[in-house]
Amino acid sequence: MTQVTKQQIVRWLENAAAKFEQEKDFLTELDRQIGDADHGANMQRGFHKVMDKLPDVADKDIGTIMKTTGMALLSTIGGASGPLYGTLFLRGAISTEAKEALDLAALTTMLSDGLKGIQQRGKAVAGDKTMVDTWLAILNTLAQNQHAPLEEALKQALNASEQGMLSTIDMQARKGRASYLGERSIGHQDPGATSSHYLFAELCRAILS
Ligand SMILES: Nc1ncnc2c1ncn2[C@@H]1O[C@H](COP(=O)(O)OP(=O)(O)OP(=O)(O)O)[C@@H](O)[C@H]1O
Ligand SMILES: [Mg+2]
Repeated sequence: MTQVTKQQIVRWLENAAAKFEQEKDFLTELDRQIGDADHGANMQRGFHKVMDKLPDVADKDIGTIMKTTGMALLSTIGGASGPLYGTLFLRGAISTEAKEALDLAALTTMLSDGLKGIQQRGKAVAGDKTMVDTWLAILNTLAQNQHAPLEEALKQALNASEQGMLSTIDMQARKGRASYLGERSIGHQDPGATSSHYLFAELCRAILS
C-alpha cells in the first residue's frame, strides 16, 4: 500500500468519533487534574457533530471532508481546543483539495500544515505541555521516514506520538488553563496531548488495518 484512500480518511473520522465517545470520561478526568474538566465532553461533542455532517461529504474529495470536519469542530468544541482542532483540519484541507488519495508525502504535508496552523493560533512550542508536543513528535518522525514504506513510517510515528503524549507528564504547562497551576501542573498528562494521540492513533488504525 502506497496511498491513503478517501475511504480510509472517512473511516479515520468514524473511528475517532467512537474513540472519543469511549474515552470521554478519561479525557475529562485528565482535564479535571490540570484544567476545567471539560475536554472529554468537548471532544465527544465535536466528533458527534462531525458524524452528523460526514454523510453529506463522504463521497467528495479529501479536502472537502477535512474542511467539513474542521468547521464542525470549530462550531461545537469551543474553549481553547475548538479553534485549535478546527484549524488542524481547515489547514489540512488546503493541500488535499480535489484529492482522492494521499501518498506519504501528501499525508505529511496535510498534517504539518495543520500543526503550523495550531502553532500560529495558539503560539505553543515544544515543551509547553500541550497537544503541540504530540504533533511535533509525529511530524518529526514522519519527516525522518519520508523514504520508508507508508506502513513503516506510520508505525514509527505512532510510537513517537505515544512518547510525545507521555512526555507532557513531566512538563510544566506554559500555555492554556493548566499554566495557571505553575509547578503544580507537573506530574499530570496533558488532556489535549492525549486526545491528539488518540486522533493520530485512529488515523493509523484506519490505514493499517
Ligand atoms: N495555546 C495552546 N496551544 C496548543 N494547545 C493548547 C493551547 N492552550 C490549550 N491547549 C490544549 O487544549 C487542551 C485543553 O482543551 P479543552 O478542550 O479542555 O479547552 P479549555 O482549555 O478548557 O478551554 P477554556 O479554558 O477556554 O474553557 C490542553 O490540554 C492543551 O493541550
Ligand atoms: Mg478544559
